[in-house]
Amino acid sequence: MKLSLASFLVAAVALQPALSVRTNSLLIDPAALPALPSAQQAASASADVGLNLTNIQGDILIGMKKNKELFFFFTIVNPTLFRSQLGSGILPLITPTSQLLAVDTQPTTAVNIAFSQRGLNALGITDDLGDTAFTNGQIDNVATILGDETSNWEPAFAGTGIHGVFLLASDTIDNVNATLSQVQNILNGSITEAYSLQGQARPGDEQGHEHFGFMDGISNPAVTGFSTPLPGQQVLDPGLFLLGESGDLVSRPSWAKDGSFLAFRQLQQRVPEFNAFLVDNALSNPNLTADQNAELLGARMMGRWKSGAPVDLAPTVDDPVLAADPQQNNNFNYTHPGFDEATDQTHCPFSAHVRKTNPRSDLNPEDTANHIIRAGIPYGPEVTDAENASNVSSTDPSLERGLAFVAYQSDINNGFAFLQQNWANNANFIFGKATPPGIDPIIGTGGLGQADVPRTPSGLDPSDPTRIITINQDFVVSRGGEYFFSPSLSAIQNTLSLGA
Ligand code: HEM
Ligand SMILES: *[C@@H]1O[C@H](CO)[C@@H](O)[C@H](O)[C@H]1NC(C)=O
Ligand SMILES: *[C@@H]1O[C@H](CO)[C@@H](O)[C@H](O)[C@H]1NC(C)=O
Ligand SMILES: *[C@@H]1O[C@H](CO)[C@@H](O)[C@H](O)[C@H]1NC(C)=O
Ligand SMILES: *[C@@H]1O[C@H](CO)[C@@H](O)[C@H](O)[C@H]1NC(C)=O
Ligand SMILES: *[C@@H]1O[C@H](CO)[C@@H](O)[C@H](O)[C@H]1NC(C)=O
Ligand SMILES: *[C@@H]1O[C@H](CO)[C@@H](O)[C@H](O)[C@H]1NC(C)=O
Ligand SMILES: *[C@@H]1O[C@H](CO)[C@@H](O)[C@H](O)[C@H]1NC(C)=O
Repeated sequence: MKLSLASFLVAAVALQPALSVRTNSLLIDPAALPALPSAQQAASASADVGLNLTNIQGDILIGMKKNKELFFFFTIVNPTLFRSQLGSGILPLITPTSQLLAVDTQPTTAVNIAFSQRGLNALGITDDLGDTAFTNGQIDNVATILGDETSNWEPAFAGTGIHGVFLLASDTIDNVNATLSQVQNILNGSITEAYSLQGQARPGDEQGHEHFGFMDGISNPAVTGFSTPLPGQQVLDPGLFLLGESGDLVSRPSWAKDGSFLAFRQLQQRVPEFNAFLVDNALSNPNLTADQNAELLGARMMGRWKSGAPVDLAPTVDDPVLAADPQQNNNFNYTHPGFDEATDQTHCPFSAHVRKTNPRSDLNPEDTANHIIRAGIPYGPEVTDAENASNVSSTDPSLERGLAFVAYQSDINNGFAFLQQNWANNANFIFGKATPPGIDPIIGTGGLGQADVPRTPSGLDPSDPTRIITINQDFVVSRGGEYFFSPSLSAIQNTLSLGA
């Protein structure tokens, strides 16, 4: 067959997924979540502070908007081959931030890569990135810092084989699978699979909601040089999330600039157990039905209604209009005229998940050191009728569900690990309140290294804030994770690979 030059070029372009033009976004866009900046807005904001959005991997700054995302954890078995294929074949597939901001520049599948310390060791990279949590690996602070029961850990995370992870994001699993095949072909046997986890946004009206049913990804910090801040959104220096940028005070090797530490956690959610707990412990507001009193307890444990409306602004009944409006749904700080912030929990309990993990003006001045960008996605199927009827999560591994939790920060001990240890797991935090708040009722763990140790948060019942509602089991179970470094594109090109 004879091909004209034009049709040959068309065929050649079709073989290059990175060049195909999208007509629909690979991201989801629920009304409640902040819009990404347009390419023009981001270009101008980044130029002001000299941030290179073409050099920063795309997953770091965009938050919780993935539709389908595969986490493919790998072991490097042939470092030399891996390094040569990384520069020649993989680098052109890596998706920088700038490409995700307009539909017509998005690839078929966004590809990001990150390395554990073991992975850097395997590549012969000996520089100290300046983060002890990363260097030691997540298993090192599993029990004492994070509180996990190690026996619940997925064996791959407890072992030594996880050198890195590919994050493959698209709007269909077919695309993700096709891109994984392409990546594996390019790497030509230099890696093997250590473990993988398929994430996907929940179906239909639940899109954007995590498995307990709450809209997720509303409150991430605005980053100077990238975001256009919304009312109530805290604006933070890029160096809190990107190494070597303004606000990062640690000394780093120069090639680490514009990289970020990725804290990955596979957090199983026991949804039927959570639902039954809310019914069994429903509040007693006489103006509400039993169902509404159960909903209210859940909303107070989270600090937001399932819609996303913050209880600080909508204390007794949900407000779906407020929830869907990013101009309003993050515009609160727990203060109100005439409120005593040390005692008043009529709006939001001190122990609510969102308040424990971002106390806003409970801390004066407001905290600027302990923040993360959350970029996770739900995994696993919807609750089955049988699970719902029994109030118990199935033990069938194919029915496990939860959150593939991803947090980006430039310092893990100030970011994810700090929030989990010093805030969520600390019964006395938020300090200075009339009643100690107790451990985070969603993600806290009552025993260090032991699951299902009773937790005793106060403040959940607005009619008696000193009342303690005992939670006898964990609704979120850590199945383990690892700490990774998500390098810049220039680091992949010049330091991690051997060159094309
Ligand atoms: C399965 C586990 C988890 C679930 C179901 C969950 C759920 C949620 C939900 C529904 C929100 C409110 C929506 C929003 O503001 O985006 C939220 C906010 C948040 N979560 Fe989680 N989360 C989980 C794990 C974690 C972990 C492990 C951390 C950190 C250690 C964390 C830190 C935060 C932070 C910082 C916020 C924002 C608070 C604010 O700025 O108001 N979450 N989470
Ligand atoms: C931004 O990063 C890209 C990718 O590493 C690089 O090609 C480009 O030269 C950088 N631009 C500037 C102005 O440094
Ligand atoms: C994608 O690949 C996984 C693993 O090979 C497989 O189980 C799944 O069926 C594939 N999905 C689709 C939609 O092709
Ligand atoms: C891939 O591996 C095979 C041997 O397994 C080798 O013959 C071939 O040259 C390799 N291709 C590349 C691009 O390295
Ligand atoms: C119930 O509604 C009545 C009448 O509006 C109000 O006075 C009372 O404070 C409400 N009770 C609670 C617990 O909100
Ligand atoms: C909290 O928000 C209110 C309303 O936007 C604002 O007037 C007040 O200054 C804020 N308080 C603190 C301590 O930031
Ligand atoms: C779960 O079961 C309860 C009855 O125990 C029922 O009211 C509810 O609709 C069920 N939920 C789902 C999602 O099937
Ligand atoms: C499930 O929990 C609900 C709410 O507590 C309860 O009404 C129902 O009887 C429970 N079902 C089983 C099988 O325990």
